[in-house]
Amino acid sequence: MALSSPLRRAALTAAAAASVSALLPVASASAVVHGREASAARYPWLGAVGSPFFFLRPAGQFCGGALTAPDKVLTAAHCVGAVRGLPGVLRVTFGLSDLRGKGGEAVDVKSVWVDPRYHETKFKSEDVEHHDVAVLTLKRRVNRPTAATGRPGDARAGEVVGWGTTSESDLFNTRLHAATVPLRGNAACASAYGTSFDASDMLCAGSPKADTCQFDSGGPLLVNGRVVGLTSWAYGCARPGYPGVYSRL
Ligand code: ARG
Repeated sequence: MALSSPLRRAALTAAAAASVSALLPVASASAVVHGREASAARYPWLGAVGSPFFFLRPAGQFCGGALTAPDKVLTAAHCVGAVRGLPGVLRVTFGLSDLRGKGGEAVDVKSVWVDPRYHETKFKSEDVEHHDVAVLTLKRRVNRPTAATGRPGDARAGEVVGWGTTSESDLFNTRLHAATVPLRGNAACASAYGTSFDASDMLCAGSPKADTCQFDSGGPLLVNGRVVGLTSWAYGCARPGYPGVYSRL
């Protein structure tokens, strides 16, 4: 009981936001699986969404997010829903190629908007995230390029980026990775996930060769430099027959 109870509660809530299951080893491969190391300088609008009370990871990081206006960060609802009443526990850090690095720009959060349609159901052991979109309003405006959002159109591939785990044995990866993922038709996810997959608010991408994983959530799926989806959920990571699911914007 080293921490006072409000702090403990905040830490636990932040941990809950990242989902305790995110800490359990999952599939045979994980994270921006088979990605390459990426420089944060290429993604100046990319934020590490976290909390100074989330002690498990450097920078308290548990999700990703994209700066879409000088004081707005787009992320996944499941990353921040549990602390929407405690926006002050959240912090977004830009410019980190490695979460352990110095020199990032950290900004606290003033308020959290969660899509009112956001809710969870279950697919096997996994939480299925519906309308998994949230917007953080920062305490101050940051002087950085913003990311545009868009639709995938008929693109065949996209790019994912995040600080998530890169394999089961690298659960504590702290480096930014990016990978090219195939955009999958709705049918691929419908056949994997049945009615858990809702094509009206979800996008399907990835393969056993490249996928996102734990702690990548909220980060972008990019097509032609535009954010077209947010890392949301899947059955494990990079499992054959189970693509990643992204919130459709
Ligand atoms: N829910 C995970 C997170 O909170 C993201 C899972 C994405 N999984 C996947 N195989 N694409 O970080």
